[in-house]
Amino acid sequence: MTGKHRIFIGYHVDDLLYFTPTALRFDIGIDVRKKAEELFEKEISNSIVQNKCLSCHIAEGSNQDQALAFVSTSNSDHLEINFLQFESLHEERGTEYIINKSQGFISHGGGVQINSGTTEFLNLLTFLQLLEQIE
Ligand code: HEC
Repeated sequence: MTGKHRIFIGYHVDDLLYFTPTALRFDIGIDVRKKAEELFEKEISNSIVQNKCLSCHIAEGSNQDQALAFVSTSNSDHLEINFLQFESLHEERGTEYIINKSQGFISHGGGVQINSGTTEFLNLLTFLQLLEQIE
């Protein structure tokens, strides 16, 4: 689905079928990224990152270089910065790793942060699956 797409539009004039001479081009990747950013802003940033992860995963001192080094909402770029934190870890380790860590299914310094089947779980999963489609 993602990537560059081209469509030609066909139309009838009397009995003849014509096509637009040039293709309309569109790039689905951009839409998926936008969707991921919107979901992040609405459902992930506050209820998950700020409320459940930031206390440990905070970009400070020696934490700065680690994966998921989040910043608080006092940083006006927090949405972009925190989104990129997920994106780069996701690129490296994938959806399952992050979701399993959050649930404490694989050893996690923060234990269980998100319970399966909850709204938060579904939002995080959907978000990570959107990231998969961007890459
Ligand atoms: C109570 C502290 C604490 C909280 C809260 C916490 N974590 Fe963690 N997390 C840790 C520690 C410590 C580590 C490093 C050790 C490890 O990998 O388990 C870690 C590691 C991780 C990793 C692995 C990072 C890597 O470099 O491979 C992921 C993914 C992760 N946490 C996700 C989350 C998410 C998502 C949240 C919020 C929903 C969260 N954690 C909340 C303490 C916490």
